[in-house]
This record gives sequence, C-alpha cells and structure tokens, in this order.
Amino acid sequence: MSEMQTIQWFPGHMTKTKRQIQANLKLVDAVAEIIDARIPVSSRNPDLDKLIQSKPRVILMNKCDMANQTATKMWIDYYSKQGITAIAVDCKSGRGLNKFPQAVSTVMKEKIERLKAKGMKNPMTRVMIVGIPNVGKSSFINRISKQSRAKVEDRPGVTRGNQWFTISNNLEMLDTPGVLWPKFDDQIVGEHLAFTGAVKDQVLDVELLAVRLLDFLKKLKPADFMARFKLEEADLENNDSYGLLQMIGKKRGMLISGGEIDTERAAIMLLDEFRAAKLGRITVEMPNGELR
Ligand code: G4P
Repeated sequence: MSEMQTIQWFPGHMTKTKRQIQANLKLVDAVAEIIDARIPVSSRNPDLDKLIQSKPRVILMNKCDMANQTATKMWIDYYSKQGITAIAVDCKSGRGLNKFPQAVSTVMKEKIERLKAKGMKNPMTRVMIVGIPNVGKSSFINRISKQSRAKVEDRPGVTRGNQWFTISNNLEMLDTPGVLWPKFDDQIVGEHLAFTGAVKDQVLDVELLAVRLLDFLKKLKPADFMARFKLEEADLENNDSYGLLQMIGKKRGMLISGGEIDTERAAIMLLDEFRAAKLGRITVEMPNGELR
C-alpha cells in the first residue's frame, strides 16, 4: 500500500503546518489530542511529543460509538498507567464531552496550584485541538462552540480569524485545530487508516484493502459481521480472504455478466459497512499488541 505516501503531505506542507502549530502552541497551556478510538496507534502523529514537549495533554478517544467498549476502557487504563489522561468521546452525539473540562483540570492541576499559591484567584487554561485529518477535530470544535460563547475580541499573537471559545469560567479553546500527519510510511498504519476511511479510496486498491480487512475480521470473528453475511466458522476456516470476499459478493447478489462475482463492488460495500460500524463496534488496535 505504498500509494499512502502520495497523499496530502509534502515536506514543504509539513514544515508550514509545524510552524503554524508551534506558533499556536505558544498561546495555549494544554493540548487536546484527538485520536480515533478504533485505531489508537495509527491515528496518532509520530512527531507530536516533540512538538508539544512538556505541555500538558489530554487524549480524546473520539468515535467511541464505533469502537469496542471494552477495548476503549483498556486503552484508557493503559494511558492512565503511563500518567496520561484520556477520555472516550463521541463528537457526533456529544457523548463524553462533559468530561472534557475535568480532564483538562486534571492535567493542569500542578500549574494551577502554583498560580493559586502565587495569589491568582481563578487561573485561566487555554487549550488547542490537534489531530490527523478526519479524526473529528471540526466536529469537536463545532460541538463545544455550540455550547459556549465565542469571544470575538482580538488577542495579541492570535492569527487573524482565530477565535477563542469559552468552555467554562476557567477554560478557553482556540477555534483553529492543528492538523497533523499520520505515520504514513508504515504499511500497517496505512492500512488501518484506510480501513476507517481516514485515507481516501481513490488512491488505494479497494479489493486489496478489503482482503486485508478480511484477514483481520477472520481472526476476530465479530458476531455482527458473521450474522450480517450469514457466515459460519467453517466458512472462515475453508476460505482464504479473497475467497471470503467472493462469497460475500455472491451472498449479496453482486454479479457481472457471465455470472462472475463483482469483487470490486463487494469490496466497496464491505469497507463502507465496516466504516459505518455495521459489522459491529470494532477496535482494530489493542494496547497489548500495539497493532493487531
Ligand atoms: P476533522 O476536522 O478532524 O478532519 O474531522 P471531522 O470533524 O470533519 O470529522 C470527519 C468525519 O468523522 C465526519 O463524517 C464526522 O461526522 C465524523 N465523526 C466525527 N466524530 C465522530 C464520532 O464521534 N462518531 C462518529 N460516528 N463519527 C464522527 P463525514 O462522513 O465526513 O461527514 P458527516 O457524516 O458528518 O456528513
């Protein structure tokens, strides 16, 4: 899946993005990193640690409505053991967003206590959102901004057009997210991003991608997937992933003239259904195996 490398990010683009993020980082006290709860490894930016350095960070595991609930809990525990605060959110419905201010207070605790000891009554925390494309940054900002009041006055250093949203009496958020690139030189990362639709299909071989997804589903055997295509365990054992794709196409009546199975159509359908969580709430990457 080397086609991944042709997408969006060029060295010049990355340098410009990095510079913008570094400038905005100077304006904030903490960072909210949005990741996709289905692929917590692949949806992170490899350079973020270096970029934000010691700035406090909250991880927002977004799209948790499509991820496996037990897996999300395991990830939150995993981060917690490393001293990282993570919360599960669903920016489509807004579920979990009420935990955001508390999560920011948790990571800001030491700094706020220091400021209070110096006599500051109600220290303000400013946050910015960062994440790779399609992870839900705009959805998050839209949700939060609907619940809050946009502050329009100019602040020194804020790029024209940027605004701050008031989330609570001591929390503000920059309306411009930092758009970061994924670790696109890793083939497995590329595949997992493509499974979830974070990468556009035009640049990928959909049949190959569907076969790779079936390799994974064959091992996991999600109940919804099995039921949706009326598959038995024996079907998984007796067919390789391409055979399984043919079987799925046949079951859905996807035939081309001559009775041949339209595997390309079957592949597109399978990927669409996976992305819409119709094959179940599936987490592709687990904390114990990094990538599975
Ligand atoms: P970005 O700014 O990081 O690029 O991402 P954006 O908010 O545009 O979200 C990308 C897609 O993911 C959107 O779908 C959005 O609705 C969806 N999305 C964001 N958060 C969640 C979530 O928590 N759960 C679910 N199920 N979906 C989420 P889209 O198909 O591009 O648009 P649309 O479906 O909203 O029309």
